[in-house]
Amino acid sequence: MSTETPETEDSDVPDPQTRRLKEKETRKAAKEEAAADVIEGETVELKVFRYDPEIADKQEPRFDTFHVPKFEGMTVLDALMDARDRYDPTLTFRHSCRQAVCGSDALFVNGRQRLACKTQTVDLDEPIQIEPLPHRPVVKDLVVDMEHFYDQMRSVEPFFDPDELPGPDQQQLQTPENREQVKMSTRCIWCGACMSSCNIAAGDNQYLGPAALNKAYRFYFDEREGENRQEERLKIVEEEHGVWRCQTQFSCTEVCPKDIPLTEHIQALKREAVKNNLKFW
Ligand code: SF4
Ligand code: FES
Repeated sequence: MSTETPETEDSDVPDPQTRRLKEKETRKAAKEEAAADVIEGETVELKVFRYDPEIADKQEPRFDTFHVPKFEGMTVLDALMDARDRYDPTLTFRHSCRQAVCGSDALFVNGRQRLACKTQTVDLDEPIQIEPLPHRPVVKDLVVDMEHFYDQMRSVEPFFDPDELPGPDQQQLQTPENREQVKMSTRCIWCGACMSSCNIAAGDNQYLGPAALNKAYRFYFDEREGENRQEERLKIVEEEHGVWRCQTQFSCTEVCPKDIPLTEHIQALKREAVKNNLKFW
């Protein structure tokens, strides 16, 4: 019996261990490259919110100050990572893609919701004050509990439900005009910045909020949406804690890192709800 590993089509694909090592090398190289751009003698001052309910002397919320070397192109996320790696490995925050795609590092930076990986430190006044997203329970340091936000997103049933499914050889086509209409609404990365900035959501825990309403818009106005589902979705957004709670304050639109015209989308859903309730005798 042969003991050789059979050749497969994937023999060029590196195994997980090799891949991890490669990724580590790439990160190291990127870090060294960044270090080469360090601006001699200059530092960035950060004031970072700290809180740890599991450690007796850290249960009282406070701010810690860090000074990290400044480099060209430094983002708030870079600064936080440097502070953690250099001074305090317990400093806790979320991040993943580092390129405004995963939505995990939305924070309250200098009094405004922002993605840490998309925000350049040079654009901010110092000390840069970094806090967790407001109106969410803090789990630890800069990490908040996002479960309620995800529940609101799920409550608008964010999935396609066409009246007829296409056959195996068919495509479900969308006109370029319709694609254009829903284009911006598809850009949401579930970061929660809009919800955190909304005064109405802060006062009404059941309000669906801008991100969920935008998600409803995204499917409601897609011409491939099934008629029944469209009606059901409109009922969800019309309910007591739906579109009518929006007071057109635009705070969500201002902070959205993907530039989605959230307030406009909520208004469009309001118009649909009005049309839906018009009665002619
Ligand atoms: S709508 Fe914008 S701010 Fe709100 S969750 Fe999506 S990407 Fe974030
Ligand atoms: S780290 Fe993914 S959006 Fe910032």
